[in-house]
Amino acid sequence: MTGELDGKVAIITGGARGMGAAAVRLFLQEGAKVVIADILEDVGRDLAGELGDGAAFRKSDVSKAEEVEALVNFAVDQFGGLDILFSNAGVMGDPQPDFLKEDFTTFVQTMSVDLLGPLLGAKYAGQHMAKNGGGCILTTASSSALYGGHSIIPYRAAKAGVIGMTKSLAIELGQYGIRVNCISPGPTRTEMTVAMDGVPQEKLERLQDISMEKMMGRMPLGRLGTPEDIAQAALFLASDRAAQITGINLPVDGGETAGNTENTLTKIQAAFAEELGM
Ligand SMILES: NC(=O)c1ccc[n+]([C@@H]2O[C@H](COP(=O)([O-])OP(=O)(O)OC[C@H]3O[C@@H](n4cnc5c(N)ncnc54)[C@H](O)[C@@H]3O)[C@@H](O)[C@H]2O)c1
Repeated sequence: MTGELDGKVAIITGGARGMGAAAVRLFLQEGAKVVIADILEDVGRDLAGELGDGAAFRKSDVSKAEEVEALVNFAVDQFGGLDILFSNAGVMGDPQPDFLKEDFTTFVQTMSVDLLGPLLGAKYAGQHMAKNGGGCILTTASSSALYGGHSIIPYRAAKAGVIGMTKSLAIELGQYGIRVNCISPGPTRTEMTVAMDGVPQEKLERLQDISMEKMMGRMPLGRLGTPEDIAQAALFLASDRAAQITGINLPVDGGETAGNTENTLTKIQAAFAEELGM
């Protein structure tokens, strides 16, 4: 622990569990006061209770403007200011294996939470930060925004929107000393990766193993991400070490988006050799 966030106040949305909770713990260890914002009231309150006076929970739905505005005011009242907003809350929406059958039942929710949510956060946190000498706004995008793929097209589109939004907000808010960046996690072991209703608790670990095994082939570093990997990237971008960094998307994906992991050339050469009887 080096006290990198000493004296700072942070809001972390989606902070009750997963990557958000890992960031809450790390930011606190580094000296920040942290408001955990989530719709999961019991889980969020328990976490804040466990962490002591430096943490507070505020039930907030990031897709509702009035709740986001109230969240920013809560952080300022509770801890005397707001320096960092980590808009990390997200939902994936139900995977639809056949886009031609997409019924868009979760489309509005996905867009509202994953894209409108961070925009609302940037507006209300930005209003406070602009009057108070600046700050840092971070959002969790996704590696799935960086290349095409099956099944979760609205989610991919919303997360691609986050990356676009980040660049424009960095330009718009730079004049106030507000830095705006995003992080794109690759497959990371959290409850989101088993996104199915009604999964029995005792099956959760096993389903996560299955889900992670299926994604492993895309990971050059040979391991999946952990919530702590993402929290470390968020800490870096929130800290003064990143004082000259704004408008970027930082992939934290074990190389998943570096390129095609299949060694196609070797396969072609082997096929040529077979064809030519060499
Ligand atoms: N797990 C992965 O592999 C992965 C990969 C890329 C990106 N992401 C992104 O990382 C972020 C964190 O996800 P996670 O993997 O920790 O999953 P998670 O499901 O454990 O955490 C998401 C949190 O967001 C909260 N949330 C959902 N809707 C909300 C709303 N309307 N208002 C406030 N809070 C809300 C949930 O209650 C939950 O606590 C998300 O934005 C997600 O899209 C995850």
